[in-house]
Amino acid sequence: MTTYDFDTIIDRRGTDCVKYDIFDSPDLLSLWVADMDFAAPPAVVQALTERLQHPIFGYTMDMPRLREVICERLARLYNWQVTPDEIVFLPGVVAALNASMRAVSEPGDNVLIHTPIYPPFLASPEKNRLHSNTVPLTPVVTDGILRYEIDFDAFEAAINDGTKLFALCSPHNPTGRIWTPDELRRMAEICIAHDVVICSDEIHADLVFEPHTPTATLSPEIAQNTITLMAPSKTYNIPSLGFSFAVIQNADLRARFVAAEGFVVPHVGVLGYTAALGAYTGGDEWLAQVIDYLRENRDLTTRTITEHMPQIIPTHPEGTYLTWLDCRDLPALNGDADAAGSEFLKWIEPFFLKQANVALNNGLLFGEDGVGFARLNFALPRSQLREALERMRRALEAATG
Ligand SMILES: Cc1ncc(COP(=O)(O)O)c(C=O)c1O
Repeated sequence: MTTYDFDTIIDRRGTDCVKYDIFDSPDLLSLWVADMDFAAPPAVVQALTERLQHPIFGYTMDMPRLREVICERLARLYNWQVTPDEIVFLPGVVAALNASMRAVSEPGDNVLIHTPIYPPFLASPEKNRLHSNTVPLTPVVTDGILRYEIDFDAFEAAINDGTKLFALCSPHNPTGRIWTPDELRRMAEICIAHDVVICSDEIHADLVFEPHTPTATLSPEIAQNTITLMAPSKTYNIPSLGFSFAVIQNADLRARFVAAEGFVVPHVGVLGYTAALGAYTGGDEWLAQVIDYLRENRDLTTRTITEHMPQIIPTHPEGTYLTWLDCRDLPALNGDADAAGSEFLKWIEPFFLKQANVALNNGLLFGEDGVGFARLNFALPRSQLREALERMRRALEAATG
């Protein structure tokens, strides 16, 4: 068995990578945007290298073999029986989320969204001439750990006549919750009762420390009411290769989705298909090992913060490589995103950037209930994670005495 190395620091500076190259500080530690500082699985690199030996990159067919591989994978992981024609390939999950909104609504309708949430969920309705019905998740602190729960009454009350879609994030970014089958079923049943279609963004489904349940597997009726979005992009650290897919088992809904995205969303490129096939056919062992590594990084993050940074209350994520930090005890947090200086710097939390030379996501962009919060990406070599946490601890000590 190959043992994969996630400890070696790979310098990403100078590769036009958004995580590092928007800063000019050579020793900044970057724990913001959701990609990993680990090499992609060798199976992916090999598949791409082989394809690059052919020098023509013309229009490509969508890969029938990949459809079969995905169906086999969904059956193996979730006992979910999907047929190849129920899959729609797209270059990105955010584009698919937007296509879902267009597929089921008319301008002026509403999209139901939990907050806090990955920022494109909040921005997308308006771009499609829709409104948001936002409903806050309920923060609960137990033994110094923050965990979010669903207020089902508030969830149902947020639905009105114009609500056509529930944009669900499962597992949830930024809270790291893996919704239980019971939580998913209750939300899905409320949606069905009110004629609201579910778009279940499951991009983080593979990076989990506890079992994940795809919403559509809960019942045939729920499957008929659900658009599921998945991708190998987070899982195998290949987000810039542009491949994702939607599973839509309701033929009418699928036709509306395809009509909404056709000509608007570009085709997947040949390197996206090639990487996805390489990952799904040769990346299993790498994935198992990266999850083990991430679990230890998660535990280190939680432990260090709870023991040494009393000003912060962290989540202990059940999935994703993102810890959500309640820093509301720090008056200086968040700053003025509009004064950040550039579109990218808006995303960065200014206190830890300036005082610790550590880049975290600014919680401000995740909705009103993200004010006073920051998001930390722990998918990096452990020595760097330790160093980042130590810098944060020192900055807090200096700021709060
Ligand atoms: C929940 C969620 N959806 C979608 C995306 C981005 O997907 P894509 O790059 O395929 O548009 C992310 C990236 O962090 C995410 O966390």
